[in-house]
Amino acid sequence: MEIGREMTPAETALTTQQIESVRQLRLDFSQLIMHHRFVIDEVLTKISILREESVHTRSYNPIEHISSRVKSPRSLLEKVHRRGLPLDTEIIRREITDIAGIRITCSFIADTYHVLELLTAQNDVRLVEVKDYIAEPKPNGYRSLHAILEVPVFLRSGPTPVICEVQIRTIAMDFWASLEHKIHYKFDGDVPDRLVGELTEAADAASELDRKMERLHAEVRSGSPDVDS
Ligand code: GTP
Ligand code: MG
Repeated sequence: MEIGREMTPAETALTTQQIESVRQLRLDFSQLIMHHRFVIDEVLTKISILREESVHTRSYNPIEHISSRVKSPRSLLEKVHRRGLPLDTEIIRREITDIAGIRITCSFIADTYHVLELLTAQNDVRLVEVKDYIAEPKPNGYRSLHAILEVPVFLRSGPTPVICEVQIRTIAMDFWASLEHKIHYKFDGDVPDRLVGELTEAADAASELDRKMERLHAEVRSGSPDVDS
């Protein structure tokens, strides 16, 4: 084609093969999102069983709050682009581990570890990765227990493993993270140094509060007051 000449409709039209591959990609993408909705349902059921059983047998509820979300197609595509991945749903499924996300808020630090232990002890749950930002907080003070789990969803074709990110934290950690997220968003990631410093101090204060509450709780549950705490 000569440079500068407009393309004819025949030249701009997609070939049948291109139309077919776009159609296939749309199908694969909606299936990918659907499978991640299913894995959230599976894991939420497991968590609610653990919670109810604990309330029933121990009269103790280790979980304050649960939320979940599937990444929107737009933010998934942005992440695929950012990571330089091809538009191949098999690769995306393997590489992007937070398409399905569940956040569990517990009362106490010990509960966060306990809930993760109970979940991963189930023989259909495979622990792919754990990042313990409670033991090793991020430099800004972010604390949370992150786990990448692989759990089967039972499709018509049989069990299919799907990945899910679970974030487990205390109420104090969650309070801090949601404010930090808002500030981060407001400044488009470029948070002024003074605020960064204050946020890190606030994270340390939240952590101190967690430790204090945990000591009080242990004291009340054991019924033997600890004069040191
Ligand atoms: P992506 O950030 O999702 O690409 O993955 P990553 O490998 O960096 O995982 P990481 O475990 O660091 O964080 C994943 C998620 O944890 C984020 O999407 C947030 O929900 C949460 N998170 C991590 N760091 C922070 C933080 O400093 N502040 C807040 N508010 N949330 C955080
Ligand atoms: Mg990150």
